[in-house]
Amino acid sequence: MTRGDIPPVIMRGHGTNFHSVYGNLPAIYDAFSVSEVFDSELSGLMGNLLHGTRLLDVAAGTGEKTKRYASRFKSVVALDKSEALASYGTVHNRTDNMNFVVGTASSMPFPDGSFDRILTTWGSFTMAKAVPEMKRVLSKGGKIIRIGTCEKDGLTSLFPSFSLRRVSAVNRSYRNRGFFESRHKVIIEFSSLKVAKKILGAICGCNPDMVISRKIIHEVALHVYRKH
Ligand SMILES: C[S@@+](CC[C@H](N)C(=O)[O-])C[C@H]1O[C@@H](n2cnc3c(N)ncnc32)[C@H](O)[C@@H]1O
Repeated sequence: MTRGDIPPVIMRGHGTNFHSVYGNLPAIYDAFSVSEVFDSELSGLMGNLLHGTRLLDVAAGTGEKTKRYASRFKSVVALDKSEALASYGTVHNRTDNMNFVVGTASSMPFPDGSFDRILTTWGSFTMAKAVPEMKRVLSKGGKIIRIGTCEKDGLTSLFPSFSLRRVSAVNRSYRNRGFFESRHKVIIEFSSLKVAKKILGAICGCNPDMVISRKIIHEVALHVYRKH
């Protein structure tokens, strides 16, 4: 790089390169995922929604969220585009009834109606093909449960490329595709401010000095779709 060149900004967010950014730091990504605790209201709702026979987690990353609900199902598949995240998850998060599959949300290697519950938390895939695919592999009467960002808050404001307009358009698209939306809170908490700076600096691509607390409240949209 010559003097005066602007260093490249590594974009993070919907439709960007989360899979390649986080694929380079699976252990850090997993530690971030562990830090995301659903508040009691969201946790209660997720508990009511996530039970059945076959669960698919789309864009599961290291499968840390998948593992939280695995014991409520007979069999579980964690699908992600990143081979590195799936490999890390296979070693650290896999349960006996759970398999990792490397693949894309826009063309999933499963027959129609394979799953009665589909989970997707902060999946960074583009919706246009992924949502019809999720509906295709969902069985009749089954549900898709999606969590994503919805506000400029303590977490999202750390992402240099965060766009409320883009996130609002994504959430509107879910509503237009038959998903019911409600708003909730996720508490992101680390053992110390030093750890928070290290993990959030890497995950969000921000200057660690921007992280001023070891605890952050993250506002989220919960989207639920039921197939008739
Ligand atoms: C912010 S992470 C969320 C991971 C996990 N669901 C969680 O809550 O910790 C976004 C994930 O989306 C995955 N991803 C991005 N595009 C994808 C695609 N087209 N198909 C499958 N996974 C994708 C990335 O590899 C990454 O693991």
